[in-house]
Amino acid sequence: MLSSSVFSSPPPRSRYRLFHRKTLANSQFQVFLLSLVLLVATVVARSSARSKPNSLITTAGPQTDSRVASLLQKMTVEEKIGQLVQYSAGQPTGPGTGRSDYEDMIARGRVGSLFNVVDPHQINTYQHIAVEKSRLHIPILFGLDVIHGFRTEFPIPLALASTWDQNLVERAARVAAMEASAYGIRWTFSPMVDIARDARWGRMAEGSGEDPFLGSAMAAAYVRGYQGSRLDAPASIAACVKHFVGYGAAEGGRDYNSTEISEHTLREFYLPPFHAAVEAGAASVMSAFNSLDGIPSSANPFTLKEILRHEWAFPGLIVSDWNAIAELIPHGIAVDGAMAARKAFNAGVDMDMVSSLYHEHLVQLVNSGQVSPSAIDDAVRHVLRVKFALGLFDHPFVDETAAPKALYRSESLALAQTVAERSFVLLKNEQGLLPLSKNTRTIAVIGPLADDASYPIGTPPGPGPRTSFVDALGQLIGQEHVKRYEGTGILEGSDEEVAAAVRGAQESDVAILTLGESPEMSGEAASRADLGLPGHQEELLEAVVKTGKPVVLVLFSGRPLTVPWAFEHVPAVVAAWLPGIRGGPALVRALFGEVNPSGRLVVTWPRAVGQEPLYYNALSTGRPPGSVDLGRPPFDVASRYVSRYIDQLNSPQFPFGYGQSYTSFSYGPTAISNPRLSAKELNSNLMSHAQPAFIAEAAVRNVGARAGDEVVQLYIRLQGTSTAQPVRMLKGFQTVSLGPGEMKRVKFELPARTLAVWNDRNQFRVEPAKLTVWISPDSASGTPAEAEITP
Ligand code: NOJ
Repeated sequence: MLSSSVFSSPPPRSRYRLFHRKTLANSQFQVFLLSLVLLVATVVARSSARSKPNSLITTAGPQTDSRVASLLQKMTVEEKIGQLVQYSAGQPTGPGTGRSDYEDMIARGRVGSLFNVVDPHQINTYQHIAVEKSRLHIPILFGLDVIHGFRTEFPIPLALASTWDQNLVERAARVAAMEASAYGIRWTFSPMVDIARDARWGRMAEGSGEDPFLGSAMAAAYVRGYQGSRLDAPASIAACVKHFVGYGAAEGGRDYNSTEISEHTLREFYLPPFHAAVEAGAASVMSAFNSLDGIPSSANPFTLKEILRHEWAFPGLIVSDWNAIAELIPHGIAVDGAMAARKAFNAGVDMDMVSSLYHEHLVQLVNSGQVSPSAIDDAVRHVLRVKFALGLFDHPFVDETAAPKALYRSESLALAQTVAERSFVLLKNEQGLLPLSKNTRTIAVIGPLADDASYPIGTPPGPGPRTSFVDALGQLIGQEHVKRYEGTGILEGSDEEVAAAVRGAQESDVAILTLGESPEMSGEAASRADLGLPGHQEELLEAVVKTGKPVVLVLFSGRPLTVPWAFEHVPAVVAAWLPGIRGGPALVRALFGEVNPSGRLVVTWPRAVGQEPLYYNALSTGRPPGSVDLGRPPFDVASRYVSRYIDQLNSPQFPFGYGQSYTSFSYGPTAISNPRLSAKELNSNLMSHAQPAFIAEAAVRNVGARAGDEVVQLYIRLQGTSTAQPVRMLKGFQTVSLGPGEMKRVKFELPARTLAVWNDRNQFRVEPAKLTVWISPDSASGTPAEAEITP
């Protein structure tokens, strides 16, 4: 996943800080320095063979660049800047300009892109103005947040990732692209590939969790799905990888908050999924809201120019997040709109989403010499390249009558159901309470979330064929066997409602509690300081459990919820996330054993909010608790002066990678093919995909009575390296299907770059180290094997 230029041109350690400070201190110097860096990096990038060509370039091809060049020659400065301007012409979702003169602006060539327009007729109307009335006939690029499906809503991305199946994620993204493109939307602001280590941050729901390796696999899968093999295919849409970069590390989990991330952590954890998406050919990248080490990400030349453009040779379009350029003023690095526009543009942001500051100030900034005309040309080239690659110049309009036929196709709905079935994580199942029997006489369905038939975050649901959980349950076992009690709302409830639900449970054989968060409690601007069940739900749960009836708890949420009482007292708990349009039927099939749950956690599940941020791939401290009993308050020096809480365990409720099945699997010991590896040799093979550095394998057996799928995970640890490395790092995963009693040897072939670390000289290198390898069912178990990496 690492580009050759990373290896061939390691930046010296001091450059990181110098680059920031000087560029901010002096804008003239900034332009000079950036041009110099651009020149050097271009030479380096050209001279070093990239591991994979960017498909944006492959699709666009040399003819595109000559079409772009000839168009550029005809453009006035105002028309060029027009291409760098984007507005939301639909439902606003945040502070913005409130402009409405789009038709006039489009006719004058002053708008490059619009988003949040979802009516194909309206899209065509705007497009006709652009193509027929503007002087150079440049089409508009229409975008939208197509986050987990367009109309056929798939489970939220956190759930999609919990399938650990890139193929399913790619296919889901393809359906989203097919539906959105039929409506004239050719650009999605997805995937969100931010690493999320803190469940307080509501946008954890929108990403693939805490791990850079899994996150990279998912990032590339989304890009492949949206963009297909050719961007100019009618059903392909351009991906926009967001939010560059570090947005998920918002302090305190509070959305839009500042981040402090060392370059080491940035390189090893936060950047890899972006790099994977860029290598998969992502057409665009969105610069984030957050400041990173004091520099707002939408004005950060180090991340945008040095890393994205130069090290990774990203050829596509960089768009700011919503109003992020204007937000440079409250961030405190600009005192007015002109300064904000100059800083964002000179740092590398091509397109201004919503703020209108490029529209208002760029011409003047060019005229006064604060922005160079050639930088404007470069930015316009990035925009036009994507428009040409999408085939928009040749096919600007959408077939309005055909559009609805793309929606809710039976195969799309079937896929949405399969993905949901594969995304559920069985957290607990005592005494085989699950799967339930179809002959159960009466089931009480209790709780506020059983009637929802879509669970979307972001785009509101269209009409569509929806079946709620409670209806799907009635269809399977007969409506007369299902008793429905709301028990409480999500936030509001009364003692009477709780009492009615308790009576209902007493009269039933089994109670299924559907509790958790409403979709609005996850996603953007939905940070929480408390991760428990909202409102009266915990009270309802405890009252129902006290009836002594068997209880199945289904948690709906966009993040792990801290419900320790439930994990202790409820026999069966399933994390259903927000499972999308077919979530109801999928859940019924999972609870009744028509499918065997195989989802695994992609985020560490905390016991208490105070443990956050909590993630498995953490560094050890100098004082790990070792064998200290954390289950009781510290009582002596040895048990106190270690890295611990005095009132909580260090361990999570459930570790990353965890999930149960209706069967059980046993793992044989991990075996490594080559217990002595040479760092020198590995470094010379860092870019090789062909030659595995080492092979590890383990026998995995289904020791239960049902067929099941197991997500077999490979972790490593490196000790003795120049920079401290995590206690474990995921470096491989495979799903195996095993019949009862069946055994398979699961083999992982690991390339040399698996063992590379961001070292104390700011380079990705393999270093001499002790290597520990686990093949295991999650990040907290397994029998290790050891090897040595010699110099
Ligand atoms: C703000 C969000 O942060 C971003 O993810 C989204 O794509 C834009 N709004 C556009 O809606």
